[in-house]
Amino acid sequence: MSAVHNKARTSSNPERAHTGTPIHEKVLKTLAELGVRSVGDIQQLFYELSQTLNDETNSLVIKGAQSEAERERMCKTFRNRWLGRKSGLIAQADENWLKAAGTDWRRDVGRFFNDLRALVEGKIAALPTEIRLHVGVGSAFADTSSPDLTLPGFRRTLGSVHPVTQVMREIEDIFLGLGFAIESGPEIESVYYNFDALNIPESHPARDDWDTIYVNPETLLRTHTSPVQIRAMEKHGAPLYIICPGKAYRHDNPDSTHATMFHQVEGLAVDTDITFADLKGTLDYFARKFFGDKIKTNFSPSFFPFTEPSGELAISCVFCGGKGCRVCKESGWVEVMGCGMVHPEVLRHGGIDPERYSGWAFGLGVERFAMMKYDINDIQLFQQSDIRFLEQF
Ligand code: DAH
Repeated sequence: MSAVHNKARTSSNPERAHTGTPIHEKVLKTLAELGVRSVGDIQQLFYELSQTLNDETNSLVIKGAQSEAERERMCKTFRNRWLGRKSGLIAQADENWLKAAGTDWRRDVGRFFNDLRALVEGKIAALPTEIRLHVGVGSAFADTSSPDLTLPGFRRTLGSVHPVTQVMREIEDIFLGLGFAIESGPEIESVYYNFDALNIPESHPARDDWDTIYVNPETLLRTHTSPVQIRAMEKHGAPLYIICPGKAYRHDNPDSTHATMFHQVEGLAVDTDITFADLKGTLDYFARKFFGDKIKTNFSPSFFPFTEPSGELAISCVFCGGKGCRVCKESGWVEVMGCGMVHPEVLRHGGIDPERYSGWAFGLGVERFAMMKYDINDIQLFQQSDIRFLEQF
């Protein structure tokens, strides 16, 4: 582990936040001095620099120049400030952040650094055409408090809908088209709805798989969207066709496929004469609508306390077309959701007579669907707010 890394981790980091420090002072300090602890902290620093870059170019563009000579001066000053050989912000970031970074972080810092430098160079190249000359300058134009309204505006980057939300909406659309309604339930849920009503008694080992963050002994952050099944049955009775998109929480350690907070879509159909054929037909239709007609689906037996029989739906691997690759672990298939026929106990807990009604249900992970659809290899990317990632959607 590098010196920077060690120091940052073991020191109590009194300076860690450095929130009030302006960025031109931050570039004079090394990452260790700034109390940087993670790649996210480094990314934040570079983000601040790029924000400063944007703010400064924007204000020059708004200001405009009175003459060609003034415009040249403005561009030169700006260039020196950013690309000056010794005291330019980029040179300082190079000296204090990149060169002083330990081996653990050099690659990440280098990546952010190169991106930023490219951004700076782009801005500098564009600046002479973006700073407009005030033609026919009179005293009114010289006064920046009365701006020239004929000047073109500057472009602001537009945000976009988060990929997880996009995928969630796409899933919703497919089920809305099939006549399902959208339900929601609380994220802070009772032990009863999260476990007991779903046929997971206190002694059941399945509770361990799902155990999570408790608010108090009776209340927790829901570990799945399944409790909404019970709430919806209680509220609407049968027949019932619903999906529930929403957040779920687990005590999983974060890695490339696990996050403590993630999104699920739950589905539930309850009616007279519902059979496993309804489940298969609907989920097969859904999977093809979402992943495309070329995929094949495969149902295999599984276990969930709230369904009997339980199954898992796999689709032929979208990356290799079913031939076998690293993503599908050479099997040609990727499991995408759990499903099954609603356990009679669960119907009873929802106030529905299992002698008269039957049902099927499923639960899927939205991030996983998004990762497969867009070939994303790390679930953490969804929560890092990195604009370079998000702007691709
Ligand atoms: N709740 C399960 C989980 O979080 C997913 C699930 C499986 C939901 C089967 C269902 C189902 O409704 O029938 O892993």
